[in-house]
Amino acid sequence: MNELIEIEKSILEQLEKADNEESIEKIRVLALGKKGKITEIMRSLSNMELDERKSFGREINFLKGKISKLINEKRLLINSINLEKKLKSESLDLTLPVDLELNGSIHPVSQVIQEVSLIFGDMGFDIAEGPDIEDDWHNFTALNIPPEHPARQMHDTFYLEKQDNNNQDLNEVLRTHTSPVQVRTMMKSKPPINIIVPGRTYRSDSDQTHTPMFHQVEGLVIDDKSHMGHLKGCLVEFVKKFFNLEKINYRFRPSYFPFTEPSAEMDIGCIREGNKIVLNSDQDWLEILGCGMVNPVVLENCGINSMKYQGFAFGMGIDRIAMLKYGMPDLRSFFDSDLRWLKHFAFDQFNFPPDSRKGSF
Ligand code: DAH
Repeated sequence: MNELIEIEKSILEQLEKADNEESIEKIRVLALGKKGKITEIMRSLSNMELDERKSFGREINFLKGKISKLINEKRLLINSINLEKKLKSESLDLTLPVDLELNGSIHPVSQVIQEVSLIFGDMGFDIAEGPDIEDDWHNFTALNIPPEHPARQMHDTFYLEKQDNNNQDLNEVLRTHTSPVQVRTMMKSKPPINIIVPGRTYRSDSDQTHTPMFHQVEGLVIDDKSHMGHLKGCLVEFVKKFFNLEKINYRFRPSYFPFTEPSAEMDIGCIREGNKIVLNSDQDWLEILGCGMVNPVVLENCGINSMKYQGFAFGMGIDRIAMLKYGMPDLRSFFDSDLRWLKHFAFDQFNFPPDSRKGSF
């Protein structure tokens, strides 16, 4: 009996002093391990008389339970103290000054999306978004591009092979333009509608001016009076503000899009000097966007009464206008993540926007 009391006392003293995981484990092995004190005493039970074995067995079992409980409690205590210490040492001081050498920067695409959004925001446009994975109906059919329509061929579409639970093809695509968000917006909201839709678009195409993923911004205005004059005014204003020009040389050239009627493309005057394009000249024309009055067929497809409402739409390539404004020669380098290119063309994150290009020519 006395032996047990001694053992208990010594273990408790050691536990009291232990202040890390290893020392607790040592105590556990010394007491309860294969060659531990308590284990040894339990082994000696077999040499005892039955009566003695019964009462001593009870005592030793009780001690064993008590010691393992205390060891576990001490272990939990030490773990939580250690965690506390770790959390304290890892805390972030957000008030520390920023290390400018390690700074990230704003990609030209993000910068231009922001610039475009601010300009149209000032004109009263809201921003709308839609999914990158679209169904065939929103991307094509609702926009008056039914199956077999030749306009589908021009889109170099990425089709997704997906089936529903009944093995029916889902007819999903990576959206080839931001125009399906027109459809989604008209289906869920009532006129007047004034939105722009910046976002990613996808086509199977790659060369100096095309990448499989690129960016567009779509515009849509639906009310009961907007006409081609409003469309022209809005786009001319945008181009002037975006390129920081007081006056621009432009023309609207008749074109064709299934979702607008009539349709046009806007060209701006420019001059090509080798690889470079300089704006505001009358030597040459550069197409920068497509636009038109929303086709009544599209309005009806989206549940809008075309006898009552009308409006205009436009769409342009964000990467393309970024290249033009900031003089990048090759679209593919936008997505290479080459640090030298980013250092030169990316923008200061603390000055986002206006024009704050990091590098200088
Ligand atoms: N969705 C067209 C494309 O990707 C661009 C476009 C043209 C959008 C005219 C429009 C529009 O909304 O009216 O080529």
